[in-house]
Amino acid sequence: MNILILGGGGREHALAWAVLQNPKCDRLIVAPGNAGIAGIAETATLDIADGGAVTEFAGENAVDLVVIGPEAPLAAGVADACRAAGIAVFGPDRAAAMVETSKSFTKELCDAAHAPTARYARFEAAGPAKDHVRARGAPIVVKADGLAAGKGVVVAESAAEACAAIDDIFAGQFGAAGAAVVIEEMMTGEEASFFVLVDGEELLPIGTAQDHKRLGEGDTGPNTGGMGAYSPAPIMDAAVTERALERIVRPCMAELARRGTPYSGVLYVGLMIEDGEPRLVEFNARFGDPECQCLMIRLGAQALDLMQACAEGRLADARVNWADDHAMCVVMAAEGYPGAYRKGAEIRGLERLVASSGQVVFHAGTAFENGALVAAGGRVLGITARGDDLKQARERAYAMVDAVDWPGGVCRRDIGWRALR
Ligand code: AMP
Ligand code: GLY
Repeated sequence: MNILILGGGGREHALAWAVLQNPKCDRLIVAPGNAGIAGIAETATLDIADGGAVTEFAGENAVDLVVIGPEAPLAAGVADACRAAGIAVFGPDRAAAMVETSKSFTKELCDAAHAPTARYARFEAAGPAKDHVRARGAPIVVKADGLAAGKGVVVAESAAEACAAIDDIFAGQFGAAGAAVVIEEMMTGEEASFFVLVDGEELLPIGTAQDHKRLGEGDTGPNTGGMGAYSPAPIMDAAVTERALERIVRPCMAELARRGTPYSGVLYVGLMIEDGEPRLVEFNARFGDPECQCLMIRLGAQALDLMQACAEGRLADARVNWADDHAMCVVMAAEGYPGAYRKGAEIRGLERLVASSGQVVFHAGTAFENGALVAAGGRVLGITARGDDLKQARERAYAMVDAVDWPGGVCRRDIGWRALR
């Protein structure tokens, strides 16, 4: 079969790598891809947020399955366009992707489904939002309602910090995403991500992970897109997983179906777990990055069968074959990230790290310049390894990190610390 993956980050490199393990894949095109993806698949230039352009390209290239990596094409209705054109697509329609594109949509969905989450209020003006903050007191969480590339959340330690965040949002820091704010009670506990394939009301859990959003070791410093991840997340034991599925995922997905906007694709369930009780932090309508890198190295070839079954509405017959393995992804970023960072520095040594079922260097922000591989983004490489236990996965991943010759590259040395302490 011919497959088109949309996106060009580490997540999409991992999806491409897994799809290529499966002999069913005859031809793989990734748009736009990146320098690492170009080493294993065809890449194409395409406006991936334009449904018409995507369906036309898919038609011309006899594509049997479109896999949507990032949230922007979902928010733009690219999955809707594919379905309307009769092309199988992995990713939810725009209406169902609102679980990610609007925080207040998800809070209201949780209310309707009686799913446990932080209490909240939504405001369209700064004055009443600040009154609410002063009445509630800190700590308190302030969020831009819309898509803000993971940057629209402030966990405020004081009312003044929360009010400043409200002012920033209404001043347009996040553009249209900040037309409203959601203010939430602060939850405490340990976070984990849970990945569930959904086709309408059929659910298939495919793995758990924990990422490290903070830049600094010990989970300190500014938030990033994610500096590393590991899978599985030990806190997601059978009981917590069952509770998350039955109290949060199933009722919310049933409510979407009841409203006539069923969800189809992977649901990223961000949870806060305290005393064995999971509460919802957020849904995302896609795989996490870098969590996806860990999931894909563990799932391998079956990832394609699972995504295809989901896209074709055959999830009820699909099964996941679990190996008792662990994976870790360590992100190497350009010095300065998530602030201003340097582009164009050469990266050497990757030829020593031959990809196998146990280790892969996934590229996130790389490019070729005059024949040399150079850093071309904030998060640049996702060094990913598998092991019989997490300790072994970590040893392998950091041995690979140490083999990379890139003086301007930085990474956290403590990925997995919570699980390994
Ligand atoms: P979100 O984009 O909603 O996932 O928020 C980003 C991060 O902010 C989450 O991963 C949490 O670490 C934190 N966060 C968001 N909402 C809450 C909350 N209600 N209580 C505590 N932490 C939160
Ligand atoms: N790693 C967090 C995310 O993809 O949203």
